[in-house]
Amino acid sequence: MSETTVEVHTARHIAERTWRFLVQRNLVEQADHPPTRPLFYVLPRRERAVLAFDPLALKSVDRLLSPRTLHHLSTALGGRRVVAMNSRGVFLQIAYWPTPSAPPASHPLDLRQQPFPLHVPIGMTKRGPLWLSLPEMDSVLIGGSRRMGKTHLLHGWIQALLHGGEATLILWDGKGGVEFGRYAGRSGVVVDPSDGREGMERAFAEMSRRADLFRQAGVPSLAEYVRRTGDRLPPLALILDEVAFLPEEAQAVLTDLVAKGGAFGVYPVLATQRPDAQAVKALVRVNLSTRIAFPVPSVHDSMVVLGRPGAEKLPKRKGRLLLVWEGRLVEAQAFRVSLPDAGAVRPEAATLLTDRERRLVEAAVRLGGWFRIRQLAEVTGESRDWVNKVARRWEAMGYLTPVQVNERGHRLGRRVTGALLRAAGLGGQADLADEAD
Ligand SMILES: Nc1ncnc2c1ncn2[C@@H]1O[C@H](COP(=O)(O)OP(=O)(O)OP(=O)(O)O)[C@@H](O)[C@H]1O
Ligand SMILES: [Mg+2]
Repeated sequence: MSETTVEVHTARHIAERTWRFLVQRNLVEQADHPPTRPLFYVLPRRERAVLAFDPLALKSVDRLLSPRTLHHLSTALGGRRVVAMNSRGVFLQIAYWPTPSAPPASHPLDLRQQPFPLHVPIGMTKRGPLWLSLPEMDSVLIGGSRRMGKTHLLHGWIQALLHGGEATLILWDGKGGVEFGRYAGRSGVVVDPSDGREGMERAFAEMSRRADLFRQAGVPSLAEYVRRTGDRLPPLALILDEVAFLPEEAQAVLTDLVAKGGAFGVYPVLATQRPDAQAVKALVRVNLSTRIAFPVPSVHDSMVVLGRPGAEKLPKRKGRLLLVWEGRLVEAQAFRVSLPDAGAVRPEAATLLTDRERRLVEAAVRLGGWFRIRQLAEVTGESRDWVNKVARRWEAMGYLTPVQVNERGHRLGRRVTGALLRAAGLGGQADLADEAD
């Protein structure tokens, strides 16, 4: 449901309940349903419904407008705020959401509430559940003390975007895939288990590809491109947890992605405990338009995350957050999210290999499935350093055997495993793979 449909829906609900209340209280002249003449008109307004009454249909205007009746009506409407006006007509203004007396409790995430496929859940606010669309938020910085719920929030966003089914996701968690590895293998998801450089390279490559497409089509924007060509480039969410652990080179790429991504439908979301200059380059930070802070220890920390005070005063409760979006400040309690089993899905590398890596695998296959770093670097024209790093990571993922030695202690090199071949889409070459796989 869109925001407006939600409002219309709520306004209708309010009207229906109010009508019943007035009939029960014997406040109206006609109690037939549907009434032959409208008792009131409902005007949905920002954040409230306005009921404009026909005074002739009321038994007593004074009784309707008495504080007692208004109080009871408010209760009948689930605690919504009711404000009466009696000037040039009788009006009741009824807030869409009740004002809670206690801070909102932690609610479970209900993906059925997602208004649109690109909306992600922020949490429960005093006005009810808040979801915002990724393109609206453009680029997001999330900060806050340890264990307060940053990653948890990101899980909710990932699940919502998967539920929506329209976005492509590149995920990196700074913990070698411990957090986001569980989403690998899902359609439209790339989980980068490396040090973050690859996810960034991919996002950057996609942004550059789109820039070329726009140039060729002679269009200035994504919206115009889609309108002219009908080619719906899927929005790309680049979700990075623990960005402080990104290596320097990746940060440099990130600067570009954050500054220009939105124009190409690439939306970066960055989380880290304390996004100070050491963790997130100033140039990246200034361009992150939407900010979310979980509780932090000091005003200074709040300034670092939000660019304003406030987060230091949040109750130290998991999931409690402050959002700064388009100059607005909203407090919310993030939803509780249930996580898919981390062990259930192993990173399915078909979605992980870059073209550059795939060329490495192909070369290894041409060498008979066995290779030594120097050899592979030579035939592919890559640096030994890079090949070595990839090899070590692949070894950790079970894509390569450790360096094998023969009985005389002579190093034979590494051997590809079936998992790597499948990852590279070369499953048919399984006879080349290490049988141990
Ligand atoms: N909105 C929430 N409702 C209920 N429980 C939550 C909520 N957010 C987080 N938690 C719980 O709090 C714990 C810590 O959350 P999370 O790992 O997301 O924190 P974090 O801010 O990412 O911490 P770190 O900085 O250590 O990575 C989790 O075990 C999670 O179950
Ligand atoms: Mg975390």
